[in-house]
Amino acid sequence: MPKILILNGPNLNLLGTREPEIYGSDTLSDVKDRCIETAQKHNIDIDFRQSNHEGDLVTWIQEAIGVIDGIIINAAAYTHTSIAIHDALKMLNCPIIEVHFSDISSRESFRLHSYIEPLATKVIKGKGTQGYVEAIGTLAETLNPS
Ligand code: DQA
Repeated sequence: MPKILILNGPNLNLLGTREPEIYGSDTLSDVKDRCIETAQKHNIDIDFRQSNHEGDLVTWIQEAIGVIDGIIINAAAYTHTSIAIHDALKMLNCPIIEVHFSDISSRESFRLHSYIEPLATKVIKGKGTQGYVEAIGTLAETLNPS
């Protein structure tokens, strides 16, 4: 069974209570449940994680080299700042999908630049939890072609 890593960055642990008018009312646990449900339908194994620490995300990406078949990453604020996450992702030889709950292209100017986008096979933004569901579906098409 193909294996996908789903990584979530800082402050996403507070999803549901954090600025719900921007990020929606689903909690991260709701998002995880939707991802598990979607992955089961596509016969994909997922590993869903969150950290507030850049180094954790870098280490998890390094540990995934040669182990996973695809990655979905919402690096949250690190999207706009982290060369370390960019460099780690560059070593992963698998499809990368960048996901954001909000539409980062229509918010503050400091959210316009993403260090992940140049490495991503697809960027999904502004679709809330559904964006994760779509990302799993996209990876499934490549990993489990019927
Ligand atoms: C976010 C957008 C980022 O700009 C922000 O820093 C986040 C969440 C999103 O999912 O919309 O923390 O990645």
